[in-house]
Formats: sequence, structure tokens, C-alpha cells
Amino acid sequence: MLKNKRILLGISGGIAAYKTPELVRLFKKSGAEVQVVCTPSALQFVTLKTLSVVSERPALVDFFDEETGSWNHHVNLGLWADAMVIAPCGSNTLSKIVSGQCDNLLLTTYLSARCPVWVAPAMDLDMYMHPSVQEHLQTIQNRGLHLIDAEIGPLASGLEGKGRMAEPEHIVQALNQFFEVPNNGWKNKKVLVTAGPTFEAIDPVRFIGNRSSGLMGIEIVKALSEKGAEVHLVMGPSSLPVPEGIETVHVESAQEMLEACQTLFPKCDVGIFSAAVSDYRVEEVHLEKVKKTNENWTLNLIKNPDILKTLSLTRLPHQKCIGFALETHNSEEYAKRKLEEKQLDAIVLNEVGENSGFQSKNNSVKIFTKNNQQFASDVRSKCDIANILLEKLDDWKILE
Ligand code: CTP
Repeated sequence: MLKNKRILLGISGGIAAYKTPELVRLFKKSGAEVQVVCTPSALQFVTLKTLSVVSERPALVDFFDEETGSWNHHVNLGLWADAMVIAPCGSNTLSKIVSGQCDNLLLTTYLSARCPVWVAPAMDLDMYMHPSVQEHLQTIQNRGLHLIDAEIGPLASGLEGKGRMAEPEHIVQALNQFFEVPNNGWKNKKVLVTAGPTFEAIDPVRFIGNRSSGLMGIEIVKALSEKGAEVHLVMGPSSLPVPEGIETVHVESAQEMLEACQTLFPKCDVGIFSAAVSDYRVEEVHLEKVKKTNENWTLNLIKNPDILKTLSLTRLPHQKCIGFALETHNSEEYAKRKLEEKQLDAIVLNEVGENSGFQSKNNSVKIFTKNNQQFASDVRSKCDIANILLEKLDDWKILE
């Protein structure tokens, strides 16, 4: 659940800091990125070098790097993170968190963080039970911070009781629980998504393409990933950035897209084919730029393979195929014909219109399934449409 999550680990001074390299290692093992920020007194118990090595990033303690003069910008650190964990959090840091003091990088970063924050207190048992500490622990929870309560056991003082920092495994568990995706039909499914246009070369500088931006496919990829699916994206030439952490194969032509899909689809449970594939390619691709010597130029176009149809007709019984149909007229009839001819489980009809379709941030779709279920959406953002599509397919049990 912590895969690709960005975790800011704030370490304050206390003997439990010696356990933090192990905590970093466990976060990293779960696939998270970790940025360590220490208070100066934490460095009496653990070294910056150790933390930098295990986190694979320079661990920070100063506002300025004396050698390079660069500023360790607490606002950027705070905005970067998906989660902040303060472990161990001693009584001094706890009270400064409550009062909003900011005399070190950890505290300024905490005040700038917009992400959820976890606090794992660690102190001796009498300090821990002191009314002021207990009040502070209550206050931070009232403010929405998550408490990972101290554990009972032998303490550095030689006494025994409550005050030990929660074991690193328990801290990781607390974050895992928070980020766990609720059960749904897409969770742990392996899904292939095609997106964007394809470009068919005429010569080294010219091509035949279409106006697809690839945004619908990218929103589907994001929604799938939020629902806990393992996504494989095959992306035609698009100027949009691919969502972080998504395994992506970039292709240009329909033929390249077919080859990438043929490699990936056998290991997937579902294919969602949102790419606007060029139906034709140029028969003779010129290796050098064609000069404009003639008044007319006729290109001979030949049909590209239908990627969706090829994969749908050869799929394994458990695999599902969801297609798209882009139409300007007789839309429902054409979409339903494609659903049948390509033997799909469902088809998403995109009617080219003023408020929807290519190049637009919004879209409205109609969904038809092989079991005659259907749904028509309003004009919504492509992000909303992606979520509606996935929820409908799940509700209709298309994935089973
Ligand atoms: N598709 C594909 N390979 C192609 C053409 C289309 O995989 N060579 C897929 C698209 O990704 C989409 C579906 O087939 O999911 C329908 O695409 P669309 O362009 O609407 O229809 P076509 O089948 O190409 O038919 P036509 O252009 O005649 O409407």
C-alpha cells in the first residue's frame, strides 16, 4: 500500500532514534520514497550518513547547506510528502508541535506539511504519563494528527513501563492501514490500458495522426491505480505526462502498439482500449524527406491491424476486453455493432460534440455491455468519467 508513497520521516532526539534506520529500511522495502529530516539533537543518537545511505537521499538537519549554500526548503518538503511521520517524537518536539514553534527544520516542515501526519512518541514512563504530555497527545489528535501510541516494555532508564517508541513494524503497519484501498472489483487486477493517438510515418518529418490528447486514457490509469489495480499503460505519442509509478511502454505507430499489447495482454486480466488508433498507414514510408517538386502527391494507405479485435478474438476465457467507439453519427448503432463484431464485454461510446471528445477536458459517454446493460453520463470531467466507468463495470460484475 505504500508503493510510490512519499514519506517524510522526522526524527527528534531520543534513544529510540537508533531504531529509525530500520524504520527507513522497512518503508523503502514497501516501495515508498523516504526523506529524512532530523532535529539537531537526533544526531546524538543516529548519524546523517546512516540515514542518507538507507533512505538513498541526503538526510537533512540544517536550513542551509553550508557547503553549497542551497536552501532546504521546508515548504517544498512539506508539499512533496504524501505522509509525514515523526518518530521518535520526544516531549520537547511534541510540545513545540502543539505550540507551533519552529526553531528547527523538522518543525518548520511539519508546519508546512499538507499531508496526514503520524506521531510516534517515545519517552520515559513518568514523562509519558505527565499530565502535560498526555494533554499534548490529546491536543494533536484533536487537530487530526494520527497517534501511534507508545508501547510497554523496558526503557533506557532501566525502568519498565509505557513509553517505548512503537516498533518500526507497527509504525509501517499504521500507515499501511491508512493507505489500504477498500475492497472493490479492480483491486489487484492486472489491467492493460491503451491511450493516446498513433502516428503513422510518411517520411522522417511527416506523419498521419489524429487529435487525441490521451487524457481519457490517463484518467482511467489514475482511477485504476487508486482502486488498487496493477496497471500497464501502452501510450501513443501524447504531450501529457504519464502518472508516476505506472509501468508504461511508449509507442508511435499502430503496429508498435499492437506488438506492445501482444507482449503485455497475456499477463493481464482486463484490457481497456481507449487509444485512438490510426486505421490506416502509408504503404510506402520514405526514408528521406520528400521534396515538394510535384503539384500533387497521392499517398496510398493500407489498413492497420485492429489491435482490440486481434486481442479480443484470441483472449483467454477469463480475460475481459473493454473497447471505445468514437462516432459522429448513427452513434449507438455503430457502437453496438463494434461491441458485437469485436466480441467485447463492454463498449464506451464517445460522441464527438462541442463539450466532449478529443482535446476537451470534459466528456460525456454512453456505456453498453454484452449483457444489454447501458448507462448515459452527463458532461463531466474526464477524471469523473473514468471513475464512473470503472464503478459501472464493477457494479455490473463485468470483471467476474
Ligand atoms: N482500435 C484498435 N485498433 C485499430 C482501430 C481501433 O484497437 N486499428 C480500437 C480503439 O482503441 C477503440 C475501438 O477499437 O477501442 C474502436 O475504435 P474506433 O476508431 O471507434 O472504430 P474502428 O473500429 O476503427 O472503426 P471506424 O473507424 O470505422 O469507426
